[in-house]
Amino acid sequence: MTACPENSDIEVTEITGDHYDVIRKICAECGVNNFLKLTAGYSEIKKVAVLNGQPVGYAVMLYLLDDGEICTVCVAKEHRRKGIGSLLLESLVNEGKQLGIKIFNLEVRAENSPAITLYEKHGFTITGKRKNYYSNPIEDALVMSYYENTSI
Ligand SMILES: CC(C)(COP(=O)(O)OP(=O)(O)OC[C@H]1O[C@@H](n2cnc3c(N)ncnc32)[C@H](O)[C@@H]1OP(=O)(O)O)[C@@H](O)C(=O)NCCC(=O)NCCS
Repeated sequence: MTACPENSDIEVTEITGDHYDVIRKICAECGVNNFLKLTAGYSEIKKVAVLNGQPVGYAVMLYLLDDGEICTVCVAKEHRRKGIGSLLLESLVNEGKQLGIKIFNLEVRAENSPAITLYEKHGFTITGKRKNYYSNPIEDALVMSYYENTSI
């Protein structure tokens, strides 16, 4: 777990029903689909970062056997660049490793340099590209992967 003075008051914990209203707002602010609609039928890890009792970010991963698919990492705008995205990503990967996940994949908009930099900082590398994968606006996706035997 990363320790840094700016996020020493942040707690990363499991998402419960109490967090949903604020998380829906963060979804809208980040321009991503409401994760609650995406996860039905899969095993999942859902994490929320809480500051002074308020959710300030969340992250979701689906997994099957040793394969994890990180669906999203989102942080409320006013709380970005404080290490919260890193805490959430590390929390997913560390718990995933304990569950036996060996490969972690994700898709990210090709122009989303904050997210790409975040993932690269944590050991993910670009392993593929999906042409016109996203709509509104149409954009390519980069596939990024992280393998369990490398350090995060
Ligand atoms: C991507 C996102 C989750 C990063 O969250 P965050 O809490 O700001 O990230 P951190 O503070 O942990 O940053 C970790 C590293 O990521 C990189 N990074 C984060 N934001 C960045 C930015 N705007 N520009 C460049 N690098 C950035 C930096 O390397 C940073 O380390 P540093 O602050 O020591 O330089 C956040 O910007 C966000 O919610 N974006 C909208 C949703 C989204 O696009 N999610 C990802 C796709 S699903």
